[in-house]
Amino acid sequence: MGIIIAQNVFTLHTDNSTYQMKVDDKGILLHTYYGKRTDETDYSYLIAMADRGFSGNVPQSRDERDYSLDFLPQEFPVWGSGDYRVNCLQADLGTGVEDCLLVFDSYKMYHGKYALKGLPAMFASKEDRVDTLEIILKDYQEEFYVRLLYGVYETYDVITRAVILENKTEREITLSRVMSTCLDWNHPGLDMIHFYGRHAEERETERTPLFHGIAELRSTRGASSHQHNPFVILAEKNTNEDMGQCYGFSLLYSGGFHIQAEVDQTFQTRLVMGMDDSDFSWRIKQGGQFIAPEVCMSYSSTGLSGLSHNYHNAILKHLIRSKWKEKQRPVLVNNWEATYFDFNAQKLLEIAGEAAGLGLDMLVLDDGWFGGRDTDYTGLGDWYVNEEKLGCSLGELVQKVNDLGLMFGIWFEPEMISEDSRLYREHPDWAMVVPGREPIRARSQLVLDMTREDVLDYVKDRLFSVIDSANIQYVKWDMNRSIAAAYSARLPREQQGEMRHRYVLGLYSVLETLLERYPDLLLEGCSGGGGRFDAGMLYYSPQIWCSDNTEAVERLRIHYGTSFAYPLSTISAHVSVCPNHQNGRVTPLKTRGICAMQGTFGYELDLSKMTEEEKSMVRKQVKSYKAHYRLFQFGDYYRITSPFENHDFTAWEYADKNGREACLAVVFTNLHGNPISHTVRFKGLCPDKKYKLFRDQEAVGEYTGAALMQGGILLPIPKEDYDSCQFYACMEEKEGEKGN
Ligand code: GLA
Repeated sequence: MGIIIAQNVFTLHTDNSTYQMKVDDKGILLHTYYGKRTDETDYSYLIAMADRGFSGNVPQSRDERDYSLDFLPQEFPVWGSGDYRVNCLQADLGTGVEDCLLVFDSYKMYHGKYALKGLPAMFASKEDRVDTLEIILKDYQEEFYVRLLYGVYETYDVITRAVILENKTEREITLSRVMSTCLDWNHPGLDMIHFYGRHAEERETERTPLFHGIAELRSTRGASSHQHNPFVILAEKNTNEDMGQCYGFSLLYSGGFHIQAEVDQTFQTRLVMGMDDSDFSWRIKQGGQFIAPEVCMSYSSTGLSGLSHNYHNAILKHLIRSKWKEKQRPVLVNNWEATYFDFNAQKLLEIAGEAAGLGLDMLVLDDGWFGGRDTDYTGLGDWYVNEEKLGCSLGELVQKVNDLGLMFGIWFEPEMISEDSRLYREHPDWAMVVPGREPIRARSQLVLDMTREDVLDYVKDRLFSVIDSANIQYVKWDMNRSIAAAYSARLPREQQGEMRHRYVLGLYSVLETLLERYPDLLLEGCSGGGGRFDAGMLYYSPQIWCSDNTEAVERLRIHYGTSFAYPLSTISAHVSVCPNHQNGRVTPLKTRGICAMQGTFGYELDLSKMTEEEKSMVRKQVKSYKAHYRLFQFGDYYRITSPFENHDFTAWEYADKNGREACLAVVFTNLHGNPISHTVRFKGLCPDKKYKLFRDQEAVGEYTGAALMQGGILLPIPKEDYDSCQFYACMEEKEGEKGN
């Protein structure tokens, strides 16, 4: 078991990390250690006690002026306790003042993993080396309990945290902030690595030193957002891809979020992460509880690659539930950039016919197949097949697509409603609009009140009836705007602050029912591309459309950033046409293929308009992707260069976990008149084994793993803008090993 409890010290061990807490003699739960695996020494000896001045003393310490929560590292700091730093909880226990002071009550531990009702959470089976610790804190006077949950995943160096608040008082308790995790270190000088962006430019990577004060990242948009991602890394200064200490924090939640990192007056660093609290309030009735979403933390002493591998492995094994997680995902063609709203069944079948001939597996029918949806001003909510536009029923279309040997997938945007729709005319109060006020429109659409049972029933009914009407094996679930003025006609005034969280719970409940009813369905998440790319969503959809920006060179940055937290098989990526629809750039088809293989691969263009030469390239790409599928999706992914630092080329690698084979891809992003030759080094091979090396399928020699990893390989000189190549190294099998 990874949990060791000695007196009042709780030590959690994973294979390579240790996390420790201690209940001190005042009953306060202190945080004493998180870092490289160590022993069970009580690390509270590292906490310096001193009178810092202007720091309050809790009732238990009365006049002991060198004891203050204002500087002690804590597991779950609360507002009102004399700690003035960023906190995890603001709760009015019934007095009208946010005033709470938590002390240790009890604990329990068990093998296996806790679950969170209505929320995504990492899971485990009995055989897994996973244990749970629950530490129960209580207000020092009131019957208000805070259950801190810890899931210890020994194999993957991951510790999850979640919080359940329980009101056993006689009064109603009002929350205005609940954060799911806090990490308090005596650790100055950390860098924060985070992932900011905008629509079509998601997850740009920025590394910035923390400073005295509060650095914060948040989404107030009702979704995790394009602008920031609910994943952050704190790293020591010298940490790079291959070495150094770093800590990751990933929130399993698809609504707004809030991350704050504060360096305090004594140079300690505190990080808190949880749901967005910007207009949050939640009333816990007598006997009721509130569950805050889970955070997945990980520690690596082997740099950023090690941290990413922890997340990739843990997410694949313990977060994604879909049957598709280990199955080969279909190579699909999506008609969005091929036709936008202008299609009928004949056009779709033309694309499908080409796709089948080129070795693809699935046609995805995107937006525009329902209601009066011929533009993005109309029709959302009317999930009835527009047979007039298609020229046949959905069942007939799907049958013909299946007859060509392809699977069929379809797009929905179930959380939305257009004012120009039958649904809006019948149920205007189903949209989130504050009565008597003009709504804030975005993409000319409104958001459905997903907190209402009748709305959820309608959404489910429409989804199920369309899915039941044809052989649909994939659904793309989109969400194309942020939420503003969250309002529900069903909730009383004093509960409107609950709307945003209730919305997410409503969304999760529909997704859960959908997957229960169609366990074989492949669900792809989407929100104007990657506006809801978060670990919460991955609990439901094993892949997410990564960005509406399909341009290969821009995708280098987007995939680079996304890969820090999320495995490649979750990152949906398509080859699209040139000049590219988002930025007009022209890149070779070969490069577009190599870039899109950094994820679940597909095409988003009119295949019927391609030349024979292009089609033969597509055939090769599909064949190569399928041949190396397991390596690309489940190998260890290495960011070899950063597109933010190296302006001549970007390289990345997929290496088999046993080092038997690896593929290193390079895209040149600059041309020079008198070019110099660059070398790059493979990672993850076995130094003393011999490898055959291929460049773009042509054998180029035999090298030891040591040579490829220490000496490296010489890159070719690019011949045109955005030229690219792939090196493939595979172990030479000894005679006796052949066929193993
Ligand atoms: C969003 C998605 C796109 C496409 C359109 C359709 O922008 O990200 O892939 O589905 O909606 O309206």
